[in-house]
Amino acid sequence: MKLLIINGPNLNLLGTREPEIYGNQTFKEYFNDLQKKFDSVELSYYQSNIEGELIDMLHDARKEFDGVILNAAAYTHTSVAIADAIKAIETPVIEVHISNTHARESFRHKSFLSPVVKGVILGFGLKSYDLAIQSFL
Ligand code: DQA
Repeated sequence: MKLLIINGPNLNLLGTREPEIYGNQTFKEYFNDLQKKFDSVELSYYQSNIEGELIDMLHDARKEFDGVILNAAAYTHTSVAIADAIKAIETPVIEVHISNTHARESFRHKSFLSPVVKGVILGFGLKSYDLAIQSFL
């Protein structure tokens, strides 16, 4: 099983970015923990702050991966283009968020991605990624 985790804008700053919301751990540290925990899964990780690069990565993933775990961050709430990319590929995509976006500002309540993904996991901190991996097993 080959899974790709894609993180969108500002998630490269996890660990120092608004730690009261997103925690103190860097994603690199957490990703190492995930690799140890799910040693039967081939996990890859990609992060970009650029919308078009996230779309290119989704297109590329259709050939290589059994599934994608996507935290599109703020693009979740704005991007018709990322939603279209998800629709364009057959690879199942799980939408994840670290925070419970429904408990935050109203502009975070709308997701362009939720209607086109296989499932959504949000609000469990970094554990949301762990739960998304489990959904493929
Ligand atoms: C986020 C929630 C988004 O609203 C926000 O823009 C992010 C992170 C989350 O993981 O909780 O950057 O996707």
